[in-house]
Amino acid sequence: MESITIHDKNFVPYLKHDEIQELIKNLAEKVYEDYKDETPIFVGVLNGVIMFFSDFLKYYKGKCEIAFLQVSSYSGTQSTGIVYKKMDLTKDVVDRHIVLMEDIVDTGNTLENLFEYFKNTQRPKSLKVASLLLKPDVFQKDFTIDYVAKEIPNKFVLGYGLDYDELGRNLPDLYQLEEGRINH
Ligand code: IMP
Repeated sequence: MESITIHDKNFVPYLKHDEIQELIKNLAEKVYEDYKDETPIFVGVLNGVIMFFSDFLKYYKGKCEIAFLQVSSYSGTQSTGIVYKKMDLTKDVVDRHIVLMEDIVDTGNTLENLFEYFKNTQRPKSLKVASLLLKPDVFQKDFTIDYVAKEIPNKFVLGYGLDYDELGRNLPDLYQLEEGRINH
């Protein structure tokens, strides 16, 4: 893996595709242990979740359904703090067990907004969250993330579905911004 440059920023190799797969496989097994007697709906929060979502499903061996919605809060490498809902939920999940699937939880603003949305409009039977990545140094909310594949330091990451200004989502590996910490 070599460093890459996108626009004005350099990114260094962080996690190889194979290592990511191993993390997701373990996560899918944990989720299965909890849901094997149910038919959960995995709700992918677009766009960043695409690769994680698709690989997770391949490792999940139980019955399940899927749905998507799209939100956005990032501009470049900074969270704006405002969460826009860009695309409505593709399936009704009232009275169902749902697992929200996120690429990364950073401030937790996105999830906080989504919890409100589901509570007010959908009323699922249960709601849990699975995230590929979590930045614990930034996350200050009072709810917990039920399933996390990997905790990472407070540095902007790119690849494997995650973008910098819409570029880099197609990289099979994960990269980390070369410069220092991101300030929120
Ligand atoms: P939060 O609302 O601050 O938790 O941010 C969640 C969303 O911001 C994620 O779903 C990503 O789309 C985006 N995001 C947060 N951190 C990063 C990062 O390091 N790289 C790319 N996108 C990120």
